[in-house]
Amino acid sequence: MNERLNTIDTSRLPQHIAVIMDGNGRWAKQRGLDRTFGHKEGANTVRRILRECGRLGIPYLTLYAFSTENWNRPKAEVDALMSLLVSALHDELPQLMENQVRLNVIGNLEDLPLPCRQGLDDAIRQTSANTRITLTLALSYSGRSELKNCMKKIAEKIENQELSSKEISDEIILQNLYTHALPDPDILIRTGGEQRVSNFLLWQIAYAELFFSPILWPDFSEEHLRDIIIQYQSRERRFGKTSEQINASKQ
Ligand code: IPE
Ligand code: IPE
Ligand code: MG
Repeated sequence: MNERLNTIDTSRLPQHIAVIMDGNGRWAKQRGLDRTFGHKEGANTVRRILRECGRLGIPYLTLYAFSTENWNRPKAEVDALMSLLVSALHDELPQLMENQVRLNVIGNLEDLPLPCRQGLDDAIRQTSANTRITLTLALSYSGRSELKNCMKKIAEKIENQELSSKEISDEIILQNLYTHALPDPDILIRTGGEQRVSNFLLWQIAYAELFFSPILWPDFSEEHLRDIIIQYQSRERRFGKTSEQINASKQ
């Protein structure tokens, strides 16, 4: 385990890891259990992966916990997910404080039931001065609705003559996204074997390195994460340039 950790170059860590946590339902089904058990086990994986990111010194972790499309699931599953969120926020708060985790949330938060919003507000307030790692939960989130919302905000500013259309830049767009305070993800991981982005961070993942893992989220371990970081560090991120240009800029 330590040997593997040694192969991560701590001077070139990703700053932001985003994860599509998929496979909870299948994990439960494989065991003849209700899907809810998979979500409960998935919450344990969140705790482990968050702790590992903190330990490695990764400053931003963003987790896709519930999509806007997930509201279309059976009511019993949606209700179970919402109560799991409320109890996890309550139970984990001391750990978040101890590990210096600052909680952040993105999505259409007004869609969430009141106890969830209250639990989130409370945890966000209490953790706001923590500095080790920012954990962002994407809840009732969809990339397209984030972009729609961003376009509406910019259009309103133009209508109010606070902005002209010529001034629209990457920076202005970023300022009007839910993720205005976050750097773009360096790594996007999807567990559970599917190779799609399911409406997650569509603007922000423009140059993220993508990793699709067959492991179901409840089984995703610290070692799987470290393996991905090692692979990430062996990839050449060219951002449109040539390999020669990248190598020349390193010298
Ligand atoms: C991801 O696991 C968690 C949520 C979407 C809330 P799933 O519940 O989608 O698990 P599978 O894909 O059915 O296995
Ligand atoms: C994506 O998983 C959303 C979350 C992980 C919260 P889904 O299981 O909802 O995605 P699809 O339906 O397979 O694309
Ligand atoms: Mg799924």
